[in-house]
Amino acid sequence: MDKILDVRNIHKSFDDKAVHRGINFFLEAGETVGLLGPSGSGKSVLLRSLIGLEQIDAGEIHFHSKRIDGLSEVQLYPIRTKISYAFQTGALFDSVSVFENVAYPLFEHTALSETEIEVRVREILRIVNMEDAMDLMPSDLSGGMQKRVGLARSMVLNPEVLLYDEPTAGLDPTNVEMVIEVMDRFKRKGISGIFVTHDIPAAKRICDRILILRDGKIVFSGTVPEFESSADPFIKSFLTNQ
Ligand SMILES: Nc1ncnc2c1ncn2[C@@H]1O[C@H](COP(=O)(O)OP(=O)(O)O)[C@@H](O)[C@H]1O
Ligand SMILES: [Mg+2]
Repeated sequence: MDKILDVRNIHKSFDDKAVHRGINFFLEAGETVGLLGPSGSGKSVLLRSLIGLEQIDAGEIHFHSKRIDGLSEVQLYPIRTKISYAFQTGALFDSVSVFENVAYPLFEHTALSETEIEVRVREILRIVNMEDAMDLMPSDLSGGMQKRVGLARSMVLNPEVLLYDEPTAGLDPTNVEMVIEVMDRFKRKGISGIFVTHDIPAAKRICDRILILRDGKIVFSGTVPEFESSADPFIKSFLTNQ
């Protein structure tokens, strides 16, 4: 078993508010894990901690066999090409085209030629069904299309892990479907994922395992069938209320 990410006993507080009180979990190569939990339970802070956008107070984060918590910004630079955070909003640059949005990480992080970059950007845009929109501006796109371009940009550097923070939130059912399809394509390319969501049906479709965060700890970790058949009242309420 190759653990890509191994999170050991992490703690995180903001002032006197404890958000994480000893979080333990791991991510295996190729799997997608759903991270569920009530609003404000610390899911986004956890994803942000994995790539050093938040400093943890205690514990350890290992990427493959390398400890990555506490690294400097410069040391985190290569890590963030391997563990990619798909922002909740898509976070596109408004003043440049779809093509330039997706190409940006390649110009920033690689020595590829312009021709090579164009080939790569076209390939990725094809995966998210946005190749025809390459020359449009973000403002020309629907929310769902922006989300797909954002996902394309998150994976243009061939990351090993994608962190999805509520990628389907606020989308209509058609766009939800397209985003899930994109995530599934990334999964089939062997990219591992952590999928934060309130969308239980989506999580059941795409996740190999489910984690539930509550009161600063992972209170459940299991396969989708284990999740569905849990006798725990909190987990049951999760399944029925969301
Ligand atoms: N930068 C910050 N400063 C202070 N409190 C924060 C900060 N970021 C998050 N929090 C708090 O941490 C808790 C967890 O937030 P978050 O991870 O965003 O929850 P969610 O599970 O909804 O994604 C919330 O109570 C939030 O208010
Ligand atoms: Mg959040």
